[in-house]
This record gives sequence, structure tokens and C-alpha cells, in this order.
Amino acid sequence: MTSSRVRFANTANSAILGVLSLCVILSSQVDTSLLDPTLIGRELQMFARDALGVDEMQNYFDGLQYRKRTIKGKDIIPQLAVKLSDKFKTRFVVAKRLKKAVEESYARSAKAAPQTECCNVDKSTLKYDERFRSKVDLDNVCVKISGSASPNPVHLDEGVFKEMKDILKMYPFIKWQYFGSEQGVMTNFPVFDDKEKCDKYDPRYRPFYVETATPEAKDVVLVIDISASMTGEKLYTAKEAAKTVLDTLNPKDQVGIVSFNTLASTPGSVGGQRRCYNERLALATPTNIGSMKNYVDGLVPFGETQYRLAFEKAFSLLKGSISKESGNNKKRLILFLTDGTPTDSKIPIFETIRNRNFELNNSVVILTFGFGSADQAILQDIAKQDTAKHGVPANTSVGDITVILTVQAYTSFAIAQL
Ligand SMILES: *[C@@H]1O[C@H](CO)[C@@H](O)[C@H](O)[C@H]1NC(C)=O
Ligand SMILES: *[C@@H]1O[C@H](CO)[C@@H](O)[C@H](O)[C@H]1NC(C)=O
Repeated sequence: MTSSRVRFANTANSAILGVLSLCVILSSQVDTSLLDPTLIGRELQMFARDALGVDEMQNYFDGLQYRKRTIKGKDIIPQLAVKLSDKFKTRFVVAKRLKKAVEESYARSAKAAPQTECCNVDKSTLKYDERFRSKVDLDNVCVKISGSASPNPVHLDEGVFKEMKDILKMYPFIKWQYFGSEQGVMTNFPVFDDKEKCDKYDPRYRPFYVETATPEAKDVVLVIDISASMTGEKLYTAKEAAKTVLDTLNPKDQVGIVSFNTLASTPGSVGGQRRCYNERLALATPTNIGSMKNYVDGLVPFGETQYRLAFEKAFSLLKGSISKESGNNKKRLILFLTDGTPTDSKIPIFETIRNRNFELNNSVVILTFGFGSADQAILQDIAKQDTAKHGVPANTSVGDITVILTVQAYTSFAIAQL
């Protein structure tokens, strides 16, 4: 590392002068023909020197002492590693304590009283706290209950809240502590002023929940109908659903997108930025997820509703992504979103599903979601992979087909259950 002196950038200087000269000219309202540019220049230089202290500042910087120091990566990395591992270890200890407290609370009673909802807290009980950078009540918890939570869900009891408070006292760097339940209730400590609508939040859709519920990596293909009929609210809902699914994936998961109408396309199709998205799935890293969301946002409806091509492409992406370590028990999933009856004939659709899933040892689960006037009957048969019903006998000689029937609201929840 070499030492260098800070120079007050010339460009910054001239920018300041530029702004100043504008002010001077505007405020003095002099006839421009009378202005002597040299005089103004001198005035402004004096102003910079006397009023802004530019020279003084430059002298100060010039006078600073610098020391040369070499940083040895070899020495610093082990130190960093120790610090980081300490941090993780503590968080691990805290998470284990909370887990134990929650399990004990569940074991004690399923009838603990519900706490105040975060959206309804009495704001006068909240005080600004530097640690949380917001107004909180450190003596209580509040809950967020999803609009689609189970009726009469289980609430946590005092034992958990006491543990949360003890943890807060013991570890100054631990901030929010929360628990999201399978029934759709989030318990949050401390209490804060929640600006979100009361039933809007569902912990089961959040990455922290889905990542924990599905620690195993999965391969997911989202198939979105963009035929001419997918307009307005339907297209909007399909796009939102697709983006919610993208948000709940783990970076370990692999994901791909197929949009279909008369043809099937991917973000890597001709004209697309990344060809690889057309050949295989991509790891669900923030960059890939960002590109896929952009693709989803840009989808415009037109054309017919050709199911078979969409499935061909989806299975191709899954097949193109088989790796040595993925082995036989990788979870593979196609999410199929449509509002329409297929314009192509049924037998080839079911043949494709049977044959292509057979190539993957029948490891692919298909979840279907219908919008508006979608053909619910065929969507159910596709989800059940009931090919026999459509004259295409099943072939389970390489493994059984897994069927999950689900409703739209639970897209990410369904993935979590896989
Ligand atoms: C299918 O099963 C065979 C035999 O167990 C195995 O060798 C192959 O890797 C599997 N293929 C996939 C895609 O899981
Ligand atoms: C399943 O497919 C394989 C390969 O195409 C074939 O050899 C086998 O006979 C089929 N089994 C059934 C029960 O259809």
C-alpha cells in the first residue's frame, strides 16, 4: 500500500465556482455589458479563499502525516475468521435457545392468549431505541397474523417472551427476535409500530421461513402463460405469483422460467441477454433472480395457448441441469400458471409429460395454478399426472410420481412442504 496525499479536486472547485458565479450574476442584476470577467473571477477566487476556506483546507490536507503499512493477508484472515465464527456461534446459541423456548411453549399448552397485533399497538407505549433505530416497547411482543392463517392458531406464551428479553439483555448486538409459525403467525420482539395492513404479512412466504423449511436444494421451473387472453388482473396476478416464488428460493436452488403462447420462450431465447437461461436452470442468486424478475415484468400477452411446447421446454431445462452431485433424490418442480384451455390436443401434452418425466425417473412434481376461466379439469389431471385418463398409460418403472394438489395462495408454502 502506498501513501498518497489528498488534493482538493480541481473539478470540485470549478463546480463550486460555477454555481457561485451564477448566483452572483443573477443577484446583482447588472447590465451584462458592464461586467468585467477578470474582476468577477478575482472576486470569486477571494470568496473561495476567505469564505469557503479552500486554501486553508488544502494546507490542512497537505500537512497531514501518512504512515506506510503493509497488510498481510495471511495474518489477517485467521483473525477475521475467528471474529466471524464467534459472531455466528453466538447467533446459533441464541437461535437454539429460542427454539427450545418455543418448543416448550407448544408443549405446555396450545391455548396461550393471543398478543396484540403489531398493526394495532398503542403507539404511546413505544419509545425510541438506538439499538432498533425505531420506536419500540422492550417489555412485550406483538404478532402479525396472516389473512390466510389457520383459524384459532397457536400463540406463544410468557416463557418465550421471557427468554427473548433475557437474550436481549445478554447480547447487546442481537436485535429483532421473531418466530414464524406453520399456521401463519409471526411473533415479534420487541413491539414496534407496524405500518403494514393487519393481515397482509404471511411469514410462510418469507425467505427466512422457506429457506429453513426446505434446506435441501431444489430445481424449479416457472411456466407462465402469456397467451392473448392473459390480460389485466390475470397477468398481474401471475407475474406477482412468479416473483413471490422467485423471492422465496434459496441461493442453492436452481430456477428457470418459461413463458408460452404459440411458442415457448425463456429469458435466454433469441434476443435475450443470457443464452444459458435457455439451456439450463440458474442458481437462485440475487443476480439471476433479478434478471428473471425483469423478464417476468416485461412479459406481454399475445398468441395461442400451446401447453405441450411449454412442458417440453420446462423438462428440457430440468434435464439440462442434472449434475453429478444432484443425484437421484433431487426435488424437481414445475409450477404451471395459466388462464386458458390448451389450444393444442391433449394426447401429445400428456405424452410429453409422461415421457419427459420418465427420463428424469419421475422425479418431477407439477403444481398447476388456474386464473380466470382456466380449464380446471385438465389442470388437475396435469397436477396428478393422470396421463392414463387421457389415453397415455403411466410408466412408473423408474419411480413413483409425486402429486401435490394445492391452491394458489400457498405457492411458496407448497414449495416449503416439498
Ligand atoms: C435415474 O435413476 C438411475 C438409476 O438409479 C440413475 O442412475 C440416474 O442418475 C437417475 N437419473 C436422474 C435424473 O435422477
Ligand atoms: C416404460 O418405458 C420404458 C422405456 O421407454 C419401456 O422399456 C418400458 O416397457 C415401459 N414400461 C411400461 C410399464 O410401460
